[in-house]
Amino acid sequence: MLSVQNLCKYYGSTPALVNINLDVHMGEHVVLIGSSGSGKSTLLRCINYLEEPDDGRIWLDGQYIGGHIDQANQWVKDQPSELAHKRRDIGMVFQGFHLFAHLKIIDNVAIGPRRVLKKSKATSRELARYLLDKVHLGKHADKYPWQLSGGEQQRVAIARALAMNPKLMLFDEPTSALDPRLTHEVFQVVQELANEGITMMIVTHEIKFAQKIADTIVFMEKGEIVEVETVQKIFSDPQDERTQKFLSYVL
Ligand SMILES: Nc1ncnc2c1ncn2[C@@H]1O[C@H](COP(=O)(O)OP(=O)(O)OP(=O)(O)O)[C@@H](O)[C@H]1O
Ligand SMILES: [Mg+2]
Repeated sequence: MLSVQNLCKYYGSTPALVNINLDVHMGEHVVLIGSSGSGKSTLLRCINYLEEPDDGRIWLDGQYIGGHIDQANQWVKDQPSELAHKRRDIGMVFQGFHLFAHLKIIDNVAIGPRRVLKKSKATSRELARYLLDKVHLGKHADKYPWQLSGGEQQRVAIARALAMNPKLMLFDEPTSALDPRLTHEVFQVVQELANEGITMMIVTHEIKFAQKIADTIVFMEKGEIVEVETVQKIFSDPQDERTQKFLSYVL
């Protein structure tokens, strides 16, 4: 489904990602772990082209994001409209929820299908209601974001991302602004989506949740992928010394 190929990203002369290669299969749930500054957010942000990589390619379900290879075998950058079109295939949920404060919950979810996918108002709202039910917020459809808890707002953000019918969902520390109970509510919804077979990559420091949801764990350090392993293997028998050290702190 996703193939990250020789991806590099620099901020000035500081390398944030160094030659990242990673494949994610359809329906796979990948959790990225690693200490602060290891490049986890940068990797997600480059995958959906919120940040343009300095080198390397992102391939998603049959096409490259950010450009294509022409008949002369040259890389041609996407026009902004082409890139925007491709980026719809990737849903992203951040630590902050970034909801539209002046819109009701239902309209926060319906606005993407309505404005971007050009669906009718009725169809967009019907879809929004369906998705709000899915994240257990059906009752709150007519409230405004400020009337919801942080965990509820984050679930609205998840519904909003799902409304674009993405092929891949990216979660960057979706619960780090939430207390344990609200964290549980959000993780429950993410787990339900995982059970439905949605392909996802999740950055989290919540190791227990990672163990539960992940098929595959990616451990990063200093902009590099150190180890990619099944969840069973990495926690019971990490191969690289750096992974062993990191896990000894968090387990
Ligand atoms: N916009 C930016 N400008 C300059 N440097 C940046 C920028 N974003 C990230 N970096 C640097 O890139 C490196 C990777 O950062 P990144 O945010 O990807 O780490 P992370 O693994 O997500 O960390 P955390 O667990 O704290 O969220 C860090 O050294 C960081 O300081
Ligand atoms: Mg981060």
